[in-house]
Amino acid sequence: MCGIVGVLGNHEVAPIIVEALKRLEYRGYDSAGIATVYQGRLERRRAVGKLVNLSDLLVHDPLPGKAGIGHTRWATHGAATVCNAHPHRSGGVSVVHNGIIENFRELRAELAAAGLAAETETDTETVAMLTRLHMDRGLPPREAAVATLGQLQGAFALLFLFDGEDNLLVAARKGSPLAIGHGDGEMFVGSDAIALAPMTDRITYLDEGDHAFVTRAGAEIFDAEGRRANRDMQRIALDATRIEKAGYKHFMAKEIAEQPVVLGDAIRHYVQGGAINLPEALDFTSVDRLTLVACGTANYACMVAKYWFETLAGLPCDVDIASEFRYREPPMSPSSVAIFVSQSGETADTLAALRYVQDKVAQIVSVVNVPTSSIARESDVALPILAGIEVGVASTKAFTCQLTVLALLALKAASDRGRIDAGQLATHLGDLALLPGLLNQALSRSDEIAVLAERLAEAQDVLFLGRGAMFPLAMEGALKLKEISYIHAEGYASGELKHGPIALIDRMVPVVVMAPHDRLFDKTVSNMQEVMARHGQVLLMTDARGAAEAGMGTWRTLVMPTVPDLFAPILYAVPAQLLAYHTAVAKGTDVDQPRNLAKSVTVE
Ligand code: AGP
Repeated sequence: MCGIVGVLGNHEVAPIIVEALKRLEYRGYDSAGIATVYQGRLERRRAVGKLVNLSDLLVHDPLPGKAGIGHTRWATHGAATVCNAHPHRSGGVSVVHNGIIENFRELRAELAAAGLAAETETDTETVAMLTRLHMDRGLPPREAAVATLGQLQGAFALLFLFDGEDNLLVAARKGSPLAIGHGDGEMFVGSDAIALAPMTDRITYLDEGDHAFVTRAGAEIFDAEGRRANRDMQRIALDATRIEKAGYKHFMAKEIAEQPVVLGDAIRHYVQGGAINLPEALDFTSVDRLTLVACGTANYACMVAKYWFETLAGLPCDVDIASEFRYREPPMSPSSVAIFVSQSGETADTLAALRYVQDKVAQIVSVVNVPTSSIARESDVALPILAGIEVGVASTKAFTCQLTVLALLALKAASDRGRIDAGQLATHLGDLALLPGLLNQALSRSDEIAVLAERLAEAQDVLFLGRGAMFPLAMEGALKLKEISYIHAEGYASGELKHGPIALIDRMVPVVVMAPHDRLFDKTVSNMQEVMARHGQVLLMTDARGAAEAGMGTWRTLVMPTVPDLFAPILYAVPAQLLAYHTAVAKGTDVDQPRNLAKSVTVE
């Protein structure tokens, strides 16, 4: 939810920290700030809004120093103001934080009793104040920070910087990721390897509960029990951390366009020699139930997969959003498999849900885009979706890659359980192999969709309808539209319309009907006609046969390439993404960094 960076450099660190924060802005951009130690003294600069505002400030009010910490914020406690912007400071210590300190109010009361009053609305300031109090009471910086960590409840990735210490960072990780980068006589700390890529590809990830004393000579790491710990140093493939727009106006446009290629990569990775190439440990033969858990777009991928697991493999499949699942505490079958889907692999609710099922199910599987993420590392089997870095806050290529991997899992389950034979498997895999080309054809409709978007941009409310495995696509299409264009949109099972939502229909309400000509097409057409009978403006997304049968009288009919029914949800994600993208562009909203959002929701 926020991005944090620390640098112990051989040169001025402010420009390095700004560059690293640029690569973390996808995690939040309500405010940004940097603190450095210069001539033994802590100094800081902070600005509200996008990182560019901090850069502007630094031009007019430079911040010297070769040791520093930086932060880009998604506000959890306290409005987006300079006062609430990180780094926070108390006395001779400055702190940047990603996460939530859940007991900060109790700690504040203790601090007030000790004569220390808060100056901000944030939970993070409490960390600086506690550390200061320990130092006032005689503890040196390292011990003061460790004493503070022992008092914190909640999730945090923290960096501490101290007055008079230009060769020390204290780093701590509990629930939010933190990576240490090894330079040549320099050291770096960041929320992820992407941030550190311009400086180093030698990365050590802290484990849950670790803290570290970092100096230019290296990092001393301690585990949750305070024992010295050795964590592997990895070489991160730098091309995996390269992020640029490659000529596109927005990252989202680039990532939509990349889908045929990255889907092809995923298919080639998991389908070799006509067989599905999944880890041996994945065997559905004796599995009695599946539980799929995720948030947002990843949850809609799970909803689609439910249809596949149940129809192809005959496996009962529960789907739940992580924020509900983790507190519902559902009974789990010891013969079941739990699958967690997450692009970032760091979504707090999904990670918490995964931890709930530990020791309760036969196997924990994750489908992630970041193989080094917390969710991946805490799974029995982690399946990478190979989408490449997804910078746009609105998930696009990750969604279709998640669906592709989930489809392969469903086919594997069907095959393990004898529900499909080798010939049927070969047919499905052959159909899957068509997808990159079909997505390319769908992408070619972009200009046509841009014209529709000009009209959609004027709407106040939009409905998306779908049946069967296209119902989750209706939900995803609505989410895409609302999160980047800020237009209210809802996705419904088209059969549900007459149970209430049809009251919303009038000539001002565009209704997007996502309906390939499958076995439910006629049912959906009936619902569509109920909408048109009430002057609803229908945008029908279908194929040539569907257009020929039901394309009359609609506002517009968008013809998609014909796709095997099973994989229609993967294809129809493209027009939904393009419609949202072009509508947002028409409205002039910030496509890649929509207001109030962040790419990786690492807090509850
Ligand atoms: C998708 O467009 C949204 N940005 C959001 O719903 C996202 O899918 C959700 O936060 C889950 O993120 P994850 O896949 O990284 O866990």
